[in-house]
Amino acid sequence: MTEPTRTQAGAPIASDEHSLTVGADGVTALHDRFLVEKLASFHRERVPERNPHAKGGGAFGEFVVTEDVSKYTKAAVFQKGATSETIMRFSSVAGEQGSPDTWRDVRGFALRFYSTEGNYDIVGNNTPVFFLRDAMKFPDFIHSQKRLGDSGLRNADMQWDFWTLSPESAHQVTYLMGDRGLSKSWRHINGYGSHTYQWINAEGERFWVQYHFHSSQGVELMEAADAERIAGEDADYYRRDLFDSIAAGDYPSWDVSVQIMPYDDAKTYRFNPFDLTKTWSHDDYPLIPVGHFTLNRNPESFFAQIEQAAFSPSNMVPGTDISPDKMLMARVYSYPDAQRYRIGANYNQLPVNQPHASEAKNYQHEGAMNYKIGDAADRTYAPNSYGGPAAQPELASEGGWANDGELMRAAQTLHAEDDDFGQAGTLYRDVFSTESKARFIETLTGQGRAITIPEILERFYWYWGSVDADLGTTLRQTVPGNVETANEEADPVGVGPAN
Ligand code: HEM
Repeated sequence: MTEPTRTQAGAPIASDEHSLTVGADGVTALHDRFLVEKLASFHRERVPERNPHAKGGGAFGEFVVTEDVSKYTKAAVFQKGATSETIMRFSSVAGEQGSPDTWRDVRGFALRFYSTEGNYDIVGNNTPVFFLRDAMKFPDFIHSQKRLGDSGLRNADMQWDFWTLSPESAHQVTYLMGDRGLSKSWRHINGYGSHTYQWINAEGERFWVQYHFHSSQGVELMEAADAERIAGEDADYYRRDLFDSIAAGDYPSWDVSVQIMPYDDAKTYRFNPFDLTKTWSHDDYPLIPVGHFTLNRNPESFFAQIEQAAFSPSNMVPGTDISPDKMLMARVYSYPDAQRYRIGANYNQLPVNQPHASEAKNYQHEGAMNYKIGDAADRTYAPNSYGGPAAQPELASEGGWANDGELMRAAQTLHAEDDDFGQAGTLYRDVFSTESKARFIETLTGQGRAITIPEILERFYWYWGSVDADLGTTLRQTVPGNVETANEEADPVGVGPAN
């Protein structure tokens, strides 16, 4: 016999199809408890989408440490031979839940290791830098990427207005308008922690660290015209590619390596290492291999395991810490606060967010949707004389950094070679191939044509001319159409729609 449909309270339901009405054609009875429960549940199905990084997808896997990096960190998750369950979520930054995967954007690269010392999250991107260096500007930046208040449309003018008034964005915008802004799939991107983080070894010695995740599938781009076509044909193209690959047993993997900077070098390095718009030269600080991770398990519930996943730079473990990067310090606050609102006060009790190889044990309790009853008899205050958990004071002196000075609102200290445009120019001139440069100019030409305000267009020329003088001159010719670029059909209408 078929199992009866039951209410949330477990009682059998009279009909899955018919509401309770007065006669077959009459009015609906409000006391139809089955209909009311079904509709009420439906109304509450959605949690707010992430703001930003709403559109994404992810999977579970395993992280394996193959190298000995114990002289830099004592974290159990990074000890040679350790394996940790992993969850990873890829995303676009600006678009909403249903937006096409192949719109040009930076891609989110959020990684969690369920380690024996607690969850360790690295919430990065497919670029090693970011648009800003002070968290105060982050909401403004995201607003400029979203939609106009009146028309509800995305708008090239406001994106370029913000970027050109915020020249620290130049390095990241160069990445975004280059080949990394349009990838063949999520499997074909590298990931970066982007910020400078901290590692601490067993002797308490501190190091600054940058994380790199190199795709074993290779880094491959998607041509603008293909991206535009696919955006219409299959908005979920990247999500489908990841899910189908894993379902078919074709498991993507990434090599994990780090750059390590001795603690004292930070004071004198030619770039301020806590400036998120800068990278460290690999000649100065070469990559040190750590291990690799593989994604080998699809979610069983997209909603429960991916949509409700709550990644956060505040999820740290002993042997790791943050750095005085002003963006990172704010992110430690921002994510859990956003998640308390987005998912609920006890979001960390959800199966995807609770520690899998460690245990949550503290004196916090109750709150909306708390379902833990096992420890209700425990005392919920510290100190207590009932054998409750006790904090570890030795951790208090771990990590951190020397910091003294007047409270102030000021720009970050400039080191010898710090400026807004230098590294962007090097990326364009010395790293982009000839073909990449041609695609980049085509993309920027389309972007310039989408700008409708002359003052913003003039700043656009100045911005790119500051990255590279010849580039600025070229754009002054290609944007008005004085020199045709190769691929006119890839003309964009803003950063969201493919370009
Ligand atoms: C998501 C804030 C900078 C990467 C988010 C979310 C917020 C946020 C509120 C949504 C979280 C959620 O609801 O679960 C901020 C603030 C920043 C900042 C205030 C700067 C002060 C960055 C940077 C990166 C980054 C620099 C990369 C290096 C991501 C990623 C996600 C995300 C990948 C999606 C995580 C996921 O897949 O669930 N950000 N963010 N963010 N952010 Fe940031």
